[in-house]
Amino acid sequence: MENRSLVTIAEHSREKLEHLIQMASEFEKFPNRKLLDGRVVATLFFEPSTRTRLSFETAASRLGARVIGFADPKVTSGTKGETLKDTIMMVSNYADIIVMRHYLEGAARYASEVSPVPIINAGDGANQHPSQTMLDLYSIWKTQGTLDNLQIYLVGDLKYGRTVHSLLTAMRHFHPTFHFIAPQELAMPETWKQYCRDNNIDFVEHQDFNEDTIAGADILYMTRVQKERFADISEYERVKDRYLLKLDMLAKAKENMKILHPLPRVNEIEYSIDDEPHAYYFEQARNGLFAREALICDALGITLDDIRNDKTIIL
Ligand code: CP
Repeated sequence: MENRSLVTIAEHSREKLEHLIQMASEFEKFPNRKLLDGRVVATLFFEPSTRTRLSFETAASRLGARVIGFADPKVTSGTKGETLKDTIMMVSNYADIIVMRHYLEGAARYASEVSPVPIINAGDGANQHPSQTMLDLYSIWKTQGTLDNLQIYLVGDLKYGRTVHSLLTAMRHFHPTFHFIAPQELAMPETWKQYCRDNNIDFVEHQDFNEDTIAGADILYMTRVQKERFADISEYERVKDRYLLKLDMLAKAKENMKILHPLPRVNEIEYSIDDEPHAYYFEQARNGLFAREALICDALGITLDDIRNDKTIIL
């Protein structure tokens, strides 16, 4: 049987990504439908989340599915020693699809190998966050009108930030130029730079972060320093305020430039920027609903044609 799990966005072709963007676009026109009437979606969050869990649960609800799951593993039998495999086997008895966030890199891959129902990776450690990438692609496509030949600046924690790693893999189909701006301690890991070389992705590394550095950006993708991934908290304290985006740094920004951030934000984008036309992070999070409706449907075998011919729309 075909495994319809989504473990990494790197598995998807350009055509597949464009297909999912079209699906998200249909859901943005009409988010409320009964396509998943009678289905059950499970959300298993072994790590904290606001946007990912709530937007997946909203997506399932707006498509007519019922939602089960947990937001805190402390309330589960994992505390009694139940393994991830047994947890997945149990939940697959109850649900048609499992959305899972886990603190261990590779947990989603493992779950997809043991699960009889599709797994959607909602983030595994510092590794991948494919559903975030899907909404990032949708946001870039909506704001730039294309995914091709863009100048994309990644700023902040490029070492532990799983969203930037996922974005690299997806953008390899679209001939981007990436600009990496990070403190040395949080620089893009060599393995990911090698990934860029192997996939003919152009990249430039910058030390400075000022109005001149970012003047050429189409997308300025800010990230939070991932405090929870540091073994030594004093190292976090040393780097946490190194690259902060301030309003005056937008003076030379291109008109089309949009600021993205997977959120949550701590202090890396000054609040006064929120009202600027360049700020797009709250709309980006809203796009997560439509992108996740598309991903759930795709994992359950519902196609773009099914959505376009859907007669279950609720106005
Ligand atoms: N972007 C993101 O993953 O946010 P949450 O951690 O709140 O889900």
